[in-house]
Amino acid sequence: MRVVLLGAPGAGKGTQCKRMVDKYNVQHLSSGDILRTERAEGTELGAQAQDYMDSGRLVPDDLIVKMMAGAVAKAPESGYILDGFPRTVNQAEELDKSLASDGRMIDVVVNLQIDDSIIMERMTGRRSCPKCGAIYHVKNLKPKVEGKCDNDGEELMQRPDDKPEVVKKRLETYHEQTEPVVGYYKQHACVLEVDASVAADEVGAKLVDMLDALVGC
Ligand code: AP5
Ligand code: MG
Repeated sequence: MRVVLLGAPGAGKGTQCKRMVDKYNVQHLSSGDILRTERAEGTELGAQAQDYMDSGRLVPDDLIVKMMAGAVAKAPESGYILDGFPRTVNQAEELDKSLASDGRMIDVVVNLQIDDSIIMERMTGRRSCPKCGAIYHVKNLKPKVEGKCDNDGEELMQRPDDKPEVVKKRLETYHEQTEPVVGYYKQHACVLEVDASVAADEVGAKLVDMLDALVGC
């Protein structure tokens, strides 16, 4: 199964993808996670992306399309979930072109819908594990031991782009450049809308219902 998961910053894309990976035997391809790994490893791409990410702007399309086309090409036959990519109409067109060339188009696009008013609280309370990437929230999705990852006991971190002023800019960027991607896919693919403002378990259950219906098709 090949899925694109769309949604504003903090909509819960990463949280839901991590739940889908084992259930559907798909690879989670998060452009943000790949960029953070590039930065942590001190690569040239990581250095090029740094200022854009820290100020809440998008990394240029040419760098992202090359990076994600490489990740998609290496994904297993069983499929993948794209998280954070495509994020501009140009990226979506480039992805479609490269998928069309080997006849493996996206099966479904899921759009996680959420109001801006909820996002700030989610982002400022987010904590993540630098080792395994698990995502928590200080109130909504707490780890068993405060400040430590349930999977590996690692100290949880706050993302530098979760500062309120950067979140504000990321939201502006989302509305200007990424929301039009939903419109693009509505013309070119099957788009499922999911209310992402409810509890994570409820969002997950809805997603599973929708994806199971597709798998059975
Ligand atoms: P990226 O890492 O993709 O960030 P984002 O899209 O802004 O999304 P987030 O990861 O912040 O949110 P999420 O939807 O994954 O939410 P999460 O599950 O963590 O991108 C970072 C940067 O990289 C970009 O700004 C850009 O510079 C660059 N970049 C990346 N891709 C690019 C591209 N294609 N083109 C150009 N540049 C690119 O959840 C958030 C919090 O809420 C957590 O604490 C979680 O526990 C909690 N939570 C989740 N679901 C719920 C729920 N249902 N109820 C209550 N709390 C919840
Ligand atoms: Mg994420």
